[in-house]
Amino acid sequence: MPCQSNEELENILLEAKQYSSKGKVADYIPALSKANPADLSVAIYHSDGTCYSAGCIHKKITLQSISKVITLALALIESGEEFVFSKVGYEPTGDPFNSIVKLEMSNPSKPLNPMINAGALAVTHMIKGSSVEERFQKIIDFVKLLSGNQEISYSKEVAKSEFETSHLNRALCFFMKQHSIINEDVEELLDLYTKQCSIEVNCLDLARIGIVFALDGKEPITNKQLMPSSIARICKTFMVTCGMYNASGEFAVRVGIPAKSGVSGGILGAVPARFGIGISGPALDDKGNSVAGLKLLEILAKKYDLSMF
Ligand code: DON
Repeated sequence: MPCQSNEELENILLEAKQYSSKGKVADYIPALSKANPADLSVAIYHSDGTCYSAGCIHKKITLQSISKVITLALALIESGEEFVFSKVGYEPTGDPFNSIVKLEMSNPSKPLNPMINAGALAVTHMIKGSSVEERFQKIIDFVKLLSGNQEISYSKEVAKSEFETSHLNRALCFFMKQHSIINEDVEELLDLYTKQCSIEVNCLDLARIGIVFALDGKEPITNKQLMPSSIARICKTFMVTCGMYNASGEFAVRVGIPAKSGVSGGILGAVPARFGIGISGPALDDKGNSVAGLKLLEILAKKYDLSMF
C-alpha cells in the first residue's frame, strides 16, 4: 500500500520545521555534516497498513543510534535475556550517549543500559557469526524484515567516516575489554558497529519498523510474529526510559511514547497498538535529538492524544 501525502500532517510539519534553525547537524562523524539542517519529513504507519506522510519522505538518513534497538532485539533473540543482561544493565544514566564516566563507577563494571554507546557496543559484540560480514548480514537482514524493504543497504562513506574518527567509542571498547565485557578484537567490533549505524533508511522505513514494535513484534496486515512479543516489549521499555538519552524524562512528559533517536536526525516512534512513526530531521539539539522532530512529535502527541501515560 503506498504512503499517502496528508494535508493536515503537512501543516504540522510546516509548524515544526521552523524549529530546525535552532539546531545543528552532527559533525563529530564528518560525513554526517553534509546533511541539510532544514530537511524534515514524517511518516505514520497504521496497524491496518495505511500510511500518511509529509515532507520529502524518500530522503535517506543513516540509522545511527536507532540501530541500537534493532541489535538489542536480535541479541535477545539469539542469546536470551539472562545472557544479554549479564553484560549490560537496565538503568538510565542521565549522562550523554557517549559518556564513559558511569562505566568506571559501576561495580561490577558494565554499561548501564543498551542505548548508550558503551551498552550498544557490548550488545553488537553479542551478535553471533564467524566474520564481521556474516554478522552484519544478519543485522541488515533483520532491518529488511522489520521494515519490509528488501532494498535496504548501508552508506560506506558514513561507516568509513565514523570508523576513522570514533576514538571515544574505541576507548569505551578497550575499557570493556579490560573488564571482560567484550573479548573480541576492538577494530572488528568497531567495523561491525559503524556499519550497523550506517544502514540507510527513510522515514517510511522507520515508521514501518515502529509499527512492528507498536504491535508487540507483529507485522501489520499479515499479523506474522517477526520477533517474540516479550522482546518487543523489552525494546519499547528501553525506548521509554533511555531512547532519547538524557532527554528521555522530558520526552516522556511532553510526548509519552516509546521512541529512539539517532544523531543523523532520525526518530523511530512506536505508539502501542496504534501506529509507527518515522521522522527524519537532521538539525539536532545539544543532546543529539532532532529539534524539529521533537517539536513535531510534541504537536502530534497533543493533537491525537498519543501519550501512553
Ligand atoms: O556511536 C555513535 O556515536 C554514533 N554512531 C551513534 C550515536 C547516536 O546516534 C546518538 N544519538 N542521538
